[in-house]
Amino acid sequence: MSYVSELRGETYEQCRAAADWLLSNTQVRPTVGIVCGSGLGGLAEMIKDPQVFKYSDIPHFPRSTVHGHAGRLVFGTLKGKPCVCMQGRFHLYEGYPIQKITLPMRVFKLMGVETMILTNAAGGLNQDYKVGDIMIIKDHINMPGFAGVNPLSGPNDERFGVRFPCMSDAYDREMRQLALDVASELGYSDFLREGVYCVLGGPSFETIAECRMLHSLGADAVGMSTVHEVIVARHAGMRCFALSLISNKSVMDYDSQKKANHEEVLETGRLRAKHLEKLVSCMVARLERDNNSY
Ligand code: HPA
Repeated sequence: MSYVSELRGETYEQCRAAADWLLSNTQVRPTVGIVCGSGLGGLAEMIKDPQVFKYSDIPHFPRSTVHGHAGRLVFGTLKGKPCVCMQGRFHLYEGYPIQKITLPMRVFKLMGVETMILTNAAGGLNQDYKVGDIMIIKDHINMPGFAGVNPLSGPNDERFGVRFPCMSDAYDREMRQLALDVASELGYSDFLREGVYCVLGGPSFETIAECRMLHSLGADAVGMSTVHEVIVARHAGMRCFALSLISNKSVMDYDSQKKANHEEVLETGRLRAKHLEKLVSCMVARLERDNNSY
C-alpha cells in the first residue's frame, strides 16, 4: 500500500490494528453497526451494558470536532443484539481526508459487522416535507464524487472489496420495507418518507440557487454526511440502511427570511429523537427475530 494511503490512515493494517485493539478490549462481537447523526446521539444511550471508548483512545481513529457529536464508540446490546454505535461521526468539512472519515466502516467490517444503520440530520428540499419528518434514504447523489472526492479513490485493496463497486443497490430494499412496516405498526406513517439524499461538502449551508438546483436534480434532502460511509460499507459488502431527520426546510424562495442554522438542526433532533430511536431499535429487534433475513 502506498505511502499516501498510510498517511491518510486507511491501510488494511491500520484498520486491522484498530479492530484488534477494540476486540481485545471488549467481549462484544457486534453484527450491527450504528452511526448517530447530529443531535441523534441518544440512540447510543439505548444500548444495554455499554462499554465506551473515546475516539482519541482508539488507534488510528480520527477525533470528532463538531458540537452535538460526542466522539465515542459504544459497544453493547440493543434489543439483545450485539451492536457498536458511533456517537459522533466525521465530516469532510472538519478537514479530514475522506478516507479517514470512512475508516470506522472498515474497522466495523473487520470486527464482524454485517449491517450498518446510519442516521443524519438533513435539510428538506422536497416541498412536501415538514420539519420533523423522518426520511428513509432510498438512493443518494454524491456531489463531491462528481469532482473526484470519493473515499474509494486511490489504490484499491481487494481485501476490502472490488475496484468498481455497484451502487444501484446501496440502500437495502428489504430493510427499507422493514422500516415502513415497523413505522406503520408504531403509528409513525404520517411523518415517514422515502427519498433521495444529496451530500455536499459543507460546512456552509446551501444558497437558494443551490437548493433549487439540487431539488430539480431529484434530491429530496440535503446534508453533509452518510454517503461516504455508505460507499465504503457497500464496497466491503455490508448491508446499509439510512435515515434522515428533516431538521429544517431548505430555503428555496428569494422572498423568504428564513436562515438555516445548526441550532435548529439540534433542536429538531431533540424533538424527534425518541421516535427515531424507537424506529431503529424496533428494526434491530426484528432483524434478530428473523435472523438477519429481513
Ligand atoms: N443543509 C445541509 N446539511 C444539513 C442541513 C441543510 O439544510 N440541515 C441539516 N444538515
